[in-house]
Amino acid sequence: MTDGPKPQPGILEISLYEGGASSVDGVENVIKLSSNENPWGPSDKAVEAVAKAARSLHRYPVTDHADLRQAIGETHGLDPARIICGVGSDEVLTWVAQAYAGPGDEIIVTEHGFSMYPIIAHGVGAVPVEVAERERVVDVDAILDAVTTRTRVVFIANPANPTGTMVGQAELARLAAALPDRVVLVLDGAYAEFVEGFDGGAGLVDRFANLVMTRTFSKIYGLGGLRIGWGYAAPEIIAVLNRLRAPFNLATAQLMAAEAAVRDRAHVDRCRAENDRLRGWLAHALAEHGVPSDTSSTNFVLARFADAEEADACDAWLKREGVIVRKVAGYKLPHCLRITVGDEAGCRRVAHLVGQFKGRPDNG
Ligand SMILES: Cc1ncc(COP(=O)(O)O)c(C=O)c1O
Repeated sequence: MTDGPKPQPGILEISLYEGGASSVDGVENVIKLSSNENPWGPSDKAVEAVAKAARSLHRYPVTDHADLRQAIGETHGLDPARIICGVGSDEVLTWVAQAYAGPGDEIIVTEHGFSMYPIIAHGVGAVPVEVAERERVVDVDAILDAVTTRTRVVFIANPANPTGTMVGQAELARLAAALPDRVVLVLDGAYAEFVEGFDGGAGLVDRFANLVMTRTFSKIYGLGGLRIGWGYAAPEIIAVLNRLRAPFNLATAQLMAAEAAVRDRAHVDRCRAENDRLRGWLAHALAEHGVPSDTSSTNFVLARFADAEEADACDAWLKREGVIVRKVAGYKLPHCLRITVGDEAGCRRVAHLVGQFKGRPDNG
């Protein structure tokens, strides 16, 4: 027997992505606040579009995504020719790494950055280089200090997951201007829609040829189960990424649902307003119970506990009571729990339980 086939460099370095749990053994009717899903679900128009798409399952989907790119372009005031659509924004992020980095190259990620970034870096054999954040906020100077001749890509989420914090536009513009042209700066805007009036970095993409903005239908649009995302960049970058895109990467149901969803602005506005209201309420209620959090620009709150033991004990207590939140020790935040902003009942339930937990003499 030989040793068998050997995977490419980097593949065995990948720590498997852990999704948010959705069930607890022995507990019924759990409230899932672990994956930053939209508690109000997608637009009715998106659901109708999926039902309609079901009638053409025997047909291959279109390959150019023209209608969806047109709808995204009209909604955001962007050139559809500079948009590419993927299986979640994860696929777009992966194309960027595949296209611009390889074995031995470096991809800069930040201390508490989204866990897919190192996975994607290892997947192409590149080395993820982690740089410090400042009080859970991306630090532009730390990124610039880490740039070497091997740097090919920088991944930043703005607003960020799991911290919920944002870097200001002036800071991002400073970063974009200071990075060498050969480095691709990815502005991951998975949560951009939660910030009213924020363009997700599109304006910066228009000014720099080495920027890519990514967006998703998984968060405010409530379509995480369908897997659709998109990217916006200079035509030269889009032309490169399109070479990596499989022609039929998105099914007709994905394309039609996303198009209906992006055109339903009333639903997006309603979800943003409700998220704003309940996020403020939740953060305040948690703080009253002695659990602070940074100002969040997303649909979750990063609740900070005294230490890792207290966070773990609270997580276990919430689980026992049927509420699932996200432990973030893997993000170097062992004393924190990430809590998705649920509907009103979900927010009230989790705040009430955290209050009960903090009021218990042993917290255990
Ligand atoms: C910062 C960030 N980027 C990207 C994604 C991936 O989104 P998608 O579902 O579009 O692949 C997520 C999902 O949680 C995220 O939090």
